[in-house]
Amino acid sequence: MAGIYLDYNATTPIDPQVADAMMPYIRHSFGNPSSGHSFGVEVRDGMDRARGEVARLLGCESGGVVFTGGGTEANNHAIKGVAASHGHRGRHVITSAIEHPAVEEVCRYLEGQGFTVTYLPVDRDGLMHPEQVEEAITSETILVTIMHANNEVGTIQPIREITEVAHRNGALMRSIGRQDTRESRRPWRRSAVHRRAQVVCSQGRWGALHS
Ligand SMILES: Cc1ncc(COP(=O)(O)O)c(C=O)c1O
Repeated sequence: MAGIYLDYNATTPIDPQVADAMMPYIRHSFGNPSSGHSFGVEVRDGMDRARGEVARLLGCESGGVVFTGGGTEANNHAIKGVAASHGHRGRHVITSAIEHPAVEEVCRYLEGQGFTVTYLPVDRDGLMHPEQVEEAITSETILVTIMHANNEVGTIQPIREITEVAHRNGALMRSIGRQDTRESRRPWRRSAVHRRAQVVCSQGRWGALHS
């Protein structure tokens, strides 16, 4: 294909190591991982291995790693899931005004379901401040959902501090690391944030297979 590809924010080429690791499953080991026979068990073992590797990379429990087809699916799954399971406790959600449509549209959907959503503004550098969350949060707030790295300008939000505010006030915290690089995802690893928060990471952005 002619031209120079400059859209690594959207997705990256597959890392050759990842392609090599996947090839046996694409070419030969086609079983359904839910099947009890040997074809299924082989694939199931491969998925468990991959889950363990992702967990080690992030420093979380492998049981907490859920694979989805992409960021949009993960956002829908998590935000609507929290609304359904915690909606009896409160009906308020906090997010930022600069979320990707994959989050914003789910929030708009929740508003149609009777939830109140606060869209917090960012400053001139595209940054949010934990104090904004502190001011907006109420006893009705069940979820704070703030992106980590912005997909347009690359601003990295202070997720660790925002998570502390959410948890101190009894709300769940989630974030999407769809645009994170090897460097910018480090704070998650160093902190205990993701042990108690949901974090969406991207296979597409990290040079792995993308749906
Ligand atoms: C911050 C953010 N959230 C969600 C998405 C959607 O992810 P996907 O294309 O994997 O569905 C993107 C895509 O670029 C994104 O940058």
